[in-house]
Amino acid sequence: MTSPIRDLLSLTLEVNHLQKARDFYEKVIGLQVLSFDEDQGNCTLGFPSGQRLNLWMPVTRQQNSERLSRVRARGGTHVHWAMQIPRGTLQRAREHLGQSGIPWQEINLASEDQPADIGLYFWDPAFHGLELREVDLQDERFPEVPPGDLPETGLPVVGLREVALAFEDYQGMKERLPEAYGFAFLKEMEERNFAQFTLGPEPERDGLFTCRRWLYAWDPQVGLADMLGGEHATVQFLADVDAVEARVKQAGLEHFRDQTGLVVRDPEGHVFEFVEEAPNA
Ligand SMILES: [Fe+2]
Repeated sequence: MTSPIRDLLSLTLEVNHLQKARDFYEKVIGLQVLSFDEDQGNCTLGFPSGQRLNLWMPVTRQQNSERLSRVRARGGTHVHWAMQIPRGTLQRAREHLGQSGIPWQEINLASEDQPADIGLYFWDPAFHGLELREVDLQDERFPEVPPGDLPETGLPVVGLREVALAFEDYQGMKERLPEAYGFAFLKEMEERNFAQFTLGPEPERDGLFTCRRWLYAWDPQVGLADMLGGEHATVQFLADVDAVEARVKQAGLEHFRDQTGLVVRDPEGHVFEFVEEAPNA
């Protein structure tokens, strides 16, 4: 099966203090603020790749997004997610985090016969678990949305890499994600309930500095570096929308379609949005 899901476009996080979260992502991570609306409780930031991060602070009797409120979309809580940095910039990342007073932890994720592939893990002010992973910009396993240009200073982040979500019904998730949406299942881990989906037409091997993007689906658990899969996250994907819509209808999932795209509420409370084109930065 060729997956209709082509790439990862944006992630929406719930934050408990909008200004603090904005400051962290603007000043420490170095993302560009595209919009900031304190009354609405929303901030959107852009990666050099054009991918986006939305920060939503929930406010009583309000919706962060009128449009997505139809499926009760929320920002994810305690989401583990990863960003791409170009291969060879790990030391620059360490120095920048050190100067910013951010403690981090490193784990070598390579198998024994492979060169070191370090995940560098740290926390944002709203308890989301972040990771930096090096990507080889010459690697031929290239996603549809290429990583962006390396910022001249600060953290060398060039794009989004992965999102890890929690699913209480792990077995149900394993059937639903490929069937009801068409996500490309790659593999599971032996020792944990942990499934990996390639965000591209075919399942591909992870690691070895691939620029590909990933959806990781776990049962509720504490993973590497004490990180948790996110709850009720809103995630946007580049996709062949008609193909995903046909599957979603067949599966009977709650959804709507408008000019922007297809929006689906997963039974576990995550909201997945599928669009044909990346929004212009
Ligand atoms: Fe990770």
